[in-house]
Amino acid sequence: MHLFQLVYVSKISESFDVDKDIDNILQIANKRNKSLGITGMLIYRDGMFVQLLEGKKESVINIYGYIASDIRHDCIKTIYKNHNRDERIFEDWTMGLSRINRDMESFEEIDNLWNQIMKDLDQHKLVDNNTILEFMKKFRFSKKS
Ligand SMILES: Cc1cc2nc3c(=O)[nH]c(=O)nc-3n(C[C@H](O)[C@H](O)[C@H](O)COP(=O)(O)O)c2cc1C
Repeated sequence: MHLFQLVYVSKISESFDVDKDIDNILQIANKRNKSLGITGMLIYRDGMFVQLLEGKKESVINIYGYIASDIRHDCIKTIYKNHNRDERIFEDWTMGLSRINRDMESFEEIDNLWNQIMKDLDQHKLVDNNTILEFMKKFRFSKKS
C-alpha cells in the first residue's frame, strides 16, 4: 500500500498548558489515530510542535483537518508531503510524543537538525525533505515520555 506522510510545524497558542493539554491531545490522538490506521510522532520544543502523520491519504487529510483547526496551536505550516512511501517510520506508534531536551540520546544531532529546520522556516525557505526525514527518524526509538 502507498502511504501518505505529512509533517507540519506549529506554535502553541497563548492559553496552552503544556502538561495538561499535551496529555489530553495524546489521549484523543491515540484513540482516533488507531481507528483510522494513522501512526506518527508529535515533537515538542520551546512552544513549538513538529508532527508527522502517516497512513492512508484520506485518513491523514481527515485528521489533519481536525488538527489544523485546533485553537490550542496556530501558525500551522505543512513542511513535508510524501505520497509514495512503502513503509511507516513509526509503525508501533498511534502517536508518540517526544519533548526535546538535553538529556536525550543524540541531543546534539537532533538540536542541529531542529536549528536547520527552524532557520529555513524563519527565512521563509523550503525545508529540505531529507533534513525533515532525518530529523523524524531520530525519534524512532524514543521511549514514551
Ligand atoms: C499539536 C496537536 C496535535 C494533535 N494531534 C492529533 C492527532 O494526531 N490525532 C487526533 O485525532 N487529534 C490530534 N489533535 C487533536 C485534534 O486537533 C482535535 O482536538 C481532536 O481530534 C478533536 O476531536 P473531537 O472534535 O472529536 O473532540 C492534535 C492537536 C494538537 C494541538
